[in-house]
Amino acid sequence: MAAHAPCRFPHSAHFIRSSFIFLLQTSARPSVTLSSSRIRTTIRNMGSMTETKKANVLIVGSGGVGTMAAYALEKGGKASVTAVLRSNFSAVEKAGFSIDSIDHGMIHGWRPTKTLNAIPNMTKENTLPPYDYILVTTKNIPDIPPSIATLIAPAVTPAHTAIALLQNGLNIERPLSAAFPTNPIISGISFIGATEGPPGTIKHDDHDVLVVGAFHHNPGVEQQERADAAAELLVDMYDACEGVECMYRPDVLFWRWRKLLYNASYNSVATILGMDTSRMRASEHVVDGLVRPVMGEICEVARAAAGVRLDGGMVEGMILADTYEAFFKPSMLQGFEKGNFIEFENIVGEPLREAERVGVATPTLRVIYELLKGLQWKIKEAKGLVKVPLTRDEKPGFKYSGVGRPRDVTG
Ligand SMILES: *[C@@H]1O[C@H](CO)[C@@H](O)[C@H](O)[C@H]1NC(C)=O
Ligand SMILES: *[C@@H]1O[C@H](CO)[C@@H](O)[C@H](O)[C@H]1NC(C)=O
Ligand SMILES: *[C@@H]1O[C@H](CO)[C@@H](O)[C@H](O)[C@H]1NC(C)=O
Repeated sequence: MAAHAPCRFPHSAHFIRSSFIFLLQTSARPSVTLSSSRIRTTIRNMGSMTETKKANVLIVGSGGVGTMAAYALEKGGKASVTAVLRSNFSAVEKAGFSIDSIDHGMIHGWRPTKTLNAIPNMTKENTLPPYDYILVTTKNIPDIPPSIATLIAPAVTPAHTAIALLQNGLNIERPLSAAFPTNPIISGISFIGATEGPPGTIKHDDHDVLVVGAFHHNPGVEQQERADAAAELLVDMYDACEGVECMYRPDVLFWRWRKLLYNASYNSVATILGMDTSRMRASEHVVDGLVRPVMGEICEVARAAAGVRLDGGMVEGMILADTYEAFFKPSMLQGFEKGNFIEFENIVGEPLREAERVGVATPTLRVIYELLKGLQWKIKEAKGLVKVPLTRDEKPGFKYSGVGRPRDVTG
């Protein structure tokens, strides 16, 4: 094994956030115990799996969340993981992953069972056993093609593969439900803090806590039971790893909205203003005038659109969720600073559309959305996806290409 330089991250020292602890504190949190007979039924239903055979899991998106999921599943011993890597494929091929983990310690030269540099095509390579699960841990940017459904389609076995979306935001299951109506779709809310450094290195500095439940996208009762069972089985496999906490929660929608309180407000405002959470709090007015109003609007939409109750106490707790000394930059801001696309359509756009559907006024969220969309447009321009016409003649007839009027000298 090659020698590795220790991974260095700008914020590695003192970077322990406390938000996950808060995020998991709630009054009623019934623990659901797995019924082993149900798991056995699922295993039978999942065809290729037997009790002695490991689940065949494909992970798409091997950033912090994906790599730590791969590690937990392999270490738990109940799954065999294939990770699809892109830019970092060669680095991982050569030397494996280097992981500095709060839950698992320092790990060098680690590899999942298999690594690929592209999504496998099951139609073509039909000698491969079907995937029992596909875990999607990429960012969710539906406004930039290709869509996740298009991306994973070649690896999905209809009526077999369970698709688990470990991503933020609302209504993320809809395009997958349309593309794969007979597949179970699972919702995963991850509270992990894990970031990538140089290729193949992961800094995991906030505990791996994962809340899992089914999306009931298919109205069939049998389909819904299958989705529940697939979710329970995923929890059984993930939680088999020591040091991580993976919980099955039938009320996973509540957790999705609850995380949205933070992501729709702090992430968005941080990105628009280029401020970390400590600076926003120190200013006071950024919290009072933007963060809290957005959280309040999210609470109202959650109740009206989904019957999910998030209360004022939760809002105040979420405002103080990060350790003040963390000077934490939410991932949306970190990505934006690197010139990456921002994940705003499911985090802000969907709650806004839900608000419109049920007639809840969300004036702050609306402005936040339009500002984020403007920032995304700038990234598109920087990446060459949109071009600004330099003269009106270059793009005749566009909405605001008019000649304008002479300036009013008195104005
Ligand atoms: C997968 O393989 C099939 C059969 O060879 C082919 O028709 C299809 O275009 C391939 N799909 C992709 C995305 O490459
Ligand atoms: C690979 O590593 C780079 C950092 O060098 C990172 O920006 C990129 O997102 C990583 N890609 C994947 C697929 O892990
Ligand atoms: C969402 O919020 C969590 C804190 O709960 C944060 O760590 C993460 O960076 C946020 N996600 C995005 C996409 O910004």
